[in-house]
Amino acid sequence: MHEKSIEATYTVYDSIQDLPPEDKELLVAAKETLRNSYAPYSHFHVAAAVRLESGEVLLGTNQENAAYGQCLCAEQNVLANAGSNRSGQTIIAIAITAKHNERKLNYPVTPCGACRQVLREHEDRHDHQIRIIMQGEVGDIIAFQTVQDLLPLSFSRDDIL
Ligand code: THU
Repeated sequence: MHEKSIEATYTVYDSIQDLPPEDKELLVAAKETLRNSYAPYSHFHVAAAVRLESGEVLLGTNQENAAYGQCLCAEQNVLANAGSNRSGQTIIAIAITAKHNERKLNYPVTPCGACRQVLREHEDRHDHQIRIIMQGEVGDIIAFQTVQDLLPLSFSRDDIL
């Protein structure tokens, strides 16, 4: 018997001004599209912006439904958009942000497990790591170089192909 450990390295930025210019642009784009979030039930608005290898930026927000199981996450919406409309384009980075109607989110909001799995699929699809930049409404910004650091030991196409 022996034990192993899993480590992940990520970068913490105190301010949006400290981000590399491309990250800053992506996070600002995500923040600007928060207004398109439809979250009348949770009051938790999420937005995501992806950068493609062409430089184009695609946007997505969470879209809720009175039948709660049909609620769609921002990350999965923008990734489905990229896969559906720009299938030949590699995704380079995603910025994720969130805003709550009643409380100020002062910590980075990270993607749910299901969204991490979908991000993993997009990394595999184009054999390219996706940089993930995250911030709440205010406060620290964190950035990971790959979703695999957010979803270690993940299931992937390697298991079934
Ligand atoms: N949500 C996202 O958009 N992304 C996530 O990664 C986690 C949760 C949304 C779904 C729902 O509309 C609201 O946040 C509350 O769960």
